[in-house]
Amino acid sequence: MRSFLIWSLSVLHLIKAEAIELTDMFGEIQSPSFPDSYPSDSEVTWNISVPDGFRIKLYFMHFDLESSYLCEYDYVKIESEDQVLATFCGREATDTEQTPGQQAITSPSSYMSLTFRSDFSNEERFTGFDAHYTAVDIDECLEKSDEELSCDHHCHNYIGGYYCSCRFGYLLHSDNRTCKVECSDNLFTQRNGVIHSPDFPNPYPKSSDCLYRIELEEGFFITLQFEDNFDIEDHPEVSCPYDYIKIKAGLKEFGPFCGEKSPGRIETKSNSVQILFHSDNSGENGGWKLSYTAIGDPCPLVEPPLNGKIEPSQATYTFKDQVVISCNTGYNVFKDDVESETFQIECMKDGIWSNKVPVCKMADCKSPPELDHGFVTFSTPHNLTTYQSGIQYSCQHPFYQMVPNVTGIFTCDAKGVWMSEELGTHLPSCQPVCGQPTRPLPTHVKRIIGGRNAEPGFFPWQALIVVEDTSRVPNDRWFGSGALLSESWVLTAAHVLRSQRRDNTIIPVSKEHVTVYLGLHDVRNKMDAVNRTVEKIILHDAFDIQNYNHDIALVKLKEKVAMGPYVMPVCMPQFEHELEGPHPNTLGLVAGWGISNPNITVDDVMSSGMRTLSDILQYVKLPVVLHAECKTSYESRSGNYSVTENMFCAGYYEGGKDTCLGDSGGAFIIQDLDSQRWVAQGLVSWGGPEECGSKQVYGVYTKVSNYVGWLQEQTGWTFTNPDLRR
Ligand SMILES: *[C@@H]1O[C@H](CO)[C@@H](O)[C@H](O)[C@H]1NC(C)=O
Ligand SMILES: *[C@@H]1O[C@H](CO)[C@@H](O)[C@H](O)[C@H]1NC(C)=O
Ligand SMILES: *[C@@H]1O[C@H](CO)[C@@H](O)[C@H](O)[C@H]1NC(C)=O
Ligand SMILES: *[C@@H]1O[C@H](CO)[C@@H](O)[C@H](O)[C@H]1NC(C)=O
Ligand SMILES: *[C@@H]1O[C@H](CO)[C@@H](O)[C@H](O)[C@H]1NC(C)=O
Ligand SMILES: *[C@@H]1O[C@H](CO)[C@@H](O)[C@H](O)[C@H]1NC(C)=O
Ligand SMILES: *[C@@H]1O[C@H](CO)[C@@H](O)[C@H](O)[C@H]1NC(C)=O
Repeated sequence: MRSFLIWSLSVLHLIKAEAIELTDMFGEIQSPSFPDSYPSDSEVTWNISVPDGFRIKLYFMHFDLESSYLCEYDYVKIESEDQVLATFCGREATDTEQTPGQQAITSPSSYMSLTFRSDFSNEERFTGFDAHYTAVDIDECLEKSDEELSCDHHCHNYIGGYYCSCRFGYLLHSDNRTCKVECSDNLFTQRNGVIHSPDFPNPYPKSSDCLYRIELEEGFFITLQFEDNFDIEDHPEVSCPYDYIKIKAGLKEFGPFCGEKSPGRIETKSNSVQILFHSDNSGENGGWKLSYTAIGDPCPLVEPPLNGKIEPSQATYTFKDQVVISCNTGYNVFKDDVESETFQIECMKDGIWSNKVPVCKMADCKSPPELDHGFVTFSTPHNLTTYQSGIQYSCQHPFYQMVPNVTGIFTCDAKGVWMSEELGTHLPSCQPVCGQPTRPLPTHVKRIIGGRNAEPGFFPWQALIVVEDTSRVPNDRWFGSGALLSESWVLTAAHVLRSQRRDNTIIPVSKEHVTVYLGLHDVRNKMDAVNRTVEKIILHDAFDIQNYNHDIALVKLKEKVAMGPYVMPVCMPQFEHELEGPHPNTLGLVAGWGISNPNITVDDVMSSGMRTLSDILQYVKLPVVLHAECKTSYESRSGNYSVTENMFCAGYYEGGKDTCLGDSGGAFIIQDLDSQRWVAQGLVSWGGPEECGSKQVYGVYTKVSNYVGWLQEQTGWTFTNPDLRR
C-alpha cells in the first residue's frame, strides 16, 4: 500500500531522477547537496564501470540517512548486474536496517551501481553520505576454481587480467586456456610397433586431435592389440560425446571407442590404418596404448634343391620373407642359364614366391682357354670340364717352351675356375726356344775351307733383308742378313739399314722399302720362305759412318713369325761367361748368301744386286782373333781404320777364301757348351779394302755382348726366356 503511495506521490511530486556514469578507476560519490541535508524526492543513480579484469570496491566515509523499517523511505542501494549487493539507511545499524559502517562492498564484476533515494518528507535533517570507490584487480589465478574456466597448466595474473601457459611440449589451444599437443602427423612404416596416447599412462592432453598412420606395403595385414589399461572420457548415456578413438582401415571403420573397456584385438585386414584420437577441453583420463603387427599371406613350403640348401629354414614363410638358395661345394646355382653362387627368392603378396627354386649344377670350368703355340690335354675321361677335372697345358715342342717353366697342370675348382697350384688363374705362355736347331750343325768339323752349302734348318734364325727403293731410277736395291731374336724382332747391322743418301746423316731407310725373308735356304725359291714387312727400324743412335762403331740395328716385323724347323730365334748372350764377349781362338760360324764370292767387299754388297749372291746359303767356321792383333793388323795399313772395343775380329792370319766377309748384318754364332745353345756374339760389319782372302785381313764384327742392355731396352725383353734372366 505504502509503496503504491510512493509511486503515485512520486508521480505527483515529480521526483527528480538522475543517472551519472562513472568510468574512472576511482572516484567520490556524495549525496545531493552534501554535506548539507539532501533534498526530498530525489533519486540519483551512479553507474560505475571499470575495465574487465577489475572489480569495484566501495566504502563510506560518512553515512546519515533517514531510518525506516527495511529502509522503505530513504536508502542507498548497491547493485551489480541484477544482484542487489546491499541496501543501507539510518545512522546506525538496527535489526532491520543496515548502515555500511567500516564495511567495504566489492562488486563481483567490473560493474556496480549505487542508487540514492529520498522520499517526500524528512522529519529531521540528514546530511546524506560520502563514499569512495576504487577499481581493484581480480586475481583470476586464485579465484577461478571452476575447472571450465581455469588454466589447464599454468596461470599468470596481471593487473586487469590473466593468461594461461602450457608445459613444455604443449601448445595453448585457441580457447587460450587448455593445453593441447601437436600429434596430427605420426607415420609408422615398420612391420610392428607401439602407439599410445600422449603422456600415457598419465592423463592425455586436452583439446587435441591426434592422427596416427600406419602405412605398409600392399600385401601386409595390420592387427592392432589394445592394452587392457584403457581410459577415455565417456558419458553414461551418450556414446563418446567428448573424447574418442576412431580407426579407419581402408574402407572399414572401427569405433568410436571410449570408456574404460579396451577394444582389445582388431584385425584390420588392411595395409593402411589411420587412428584418430580426439580429446575435448576437459577431463583427466589415462588414455590408451596399443601394439600393432603386420603379416602377409603365407607362401608354400620350399624344398632345397638336390645338392643344395635353403636358408633360413623355417616352418612357414610369409609375405616379404626371403630365402637364399646355395649349393654344396663344387656345385653352383643355375637359374635361366645363369650361374651364380647363391640365389634369393622372396615370398610376395598373395602367397606367391618370386621365383622357382633353381637347380644346383656341378661347377663347370668350360673348355679351357687356348694357349698360343700350345695345347691342352685332359687328365679326366671324356674331356670333362666340371668340378675337379684336370687339364695340362703343353707347348709345341721343341720350338716353344713354357714360360714360366711349370707343369701347366690346372684343376677345375669349386667355383668353376681353372686353377693352378703354380700360377693360380694365370695362364703360362709358350715362348720360342732359341739357338737349338732341330737339324744340329756339324760341330765336329774342325775347319771349313771356303764357304760350304748349309743344309736347310742349319741356321733357322738366318734372315735375308732386302732393301728396294723403286721410287728411284735406277731402282736402289741391296741386301743384307739378320738374325731372328724372337717372334717379331730381327737383329742386324746398322749400315745395312742406313739410308744411302749422299750426306753423312744417320737415318734409317724407309720401312716400306724393306722385306725380311725367314726360313730361306735357296734364294731362287723365295716362295718357300716366310716374308714379312717391317713395322719399325731402330738404328743405334751412336752409329758412326766413319769407323762403323756401334754398327747394330733392330727390325720389328709387322706380323709375328711362327716357329718351326726352319724358323727359330738365335740366343742372346745371357750367362756371365757369354756376356764377357767371345774369347780369342773360339770358333764361331757365319752364314750368308754372299760368302762364296770372295771378291765382294762391304761396299760391293751395298751397291750390288742379288745377282752377286750365292743361291744356296753358305757358311764358314772362323776363329776369334786376339783384339790387339787385329787392331795392329789394321793400324799398319794405309787408310783410317779403327777397331774399337765394340768390335772383334775373326779369320785366319794366312788368309783364304774362308776369311772373307759374310753377308753384312748376319750373326757370328758361338755354341755355349753347357746349354748347347747357339748364341749370337757378333754381327758381320766390315773388312779391309783388299780382296777377300788376302793375308792378315780379318773380318770385323759388332760385339753383341756390349749391346745386351740396349737390346733389352729397345725390345722390352721380348726375345728371352724370363727363366733364363740373370
Ligand atoms: C545505469 O544502470 C541501470 C541498471 O543497469 C540501467 O538501467 C541504466 O540505464 C544505466 N544508466 C546509464 C546512464 O548507463
Ligand atoms: C585468445 O587470445 C588472443 C590474443 O590474446 C585473442 O585474440 C583471442 O580472441 C583469445 N581467444 C579466446 C577464445 O579468448
Ligand atoms: C678331347 O680333347 C682333345 C684335345 O682338346 C681332342 O682332340 C679330343 O677329340 C677330345 N675328345 C673328346 C672325347 O671330346
Ligand atoms: C724346366 O723345369 C724342369 C724341371 O724343373 C727342368 O728339368 C728343365 O730343365 C727346365 N727347363 C728350362 C728351360 O729351364
Ligand atoms: C710373301 O709371301 C706371300 C705368301 O707366302 C707371297 O704370296 C708373296 O708373294 C711373298 N712376297 C714376296 C715379296 O716374296
Ligand atoms: C775375283 O777377283 C779376281 C781379280 O780381280 C778375279 O781374277 C777372280 O775371277 C774373281 N773371282 C770371282 C769368283 O769372281
Ligand atoms: C780418321 O778418323 C778420324 C776419326 O774417325 C777422323 O777424325 C779423321 O778425319 C779421319 N782421317 C781421314 C784421313 O779420313
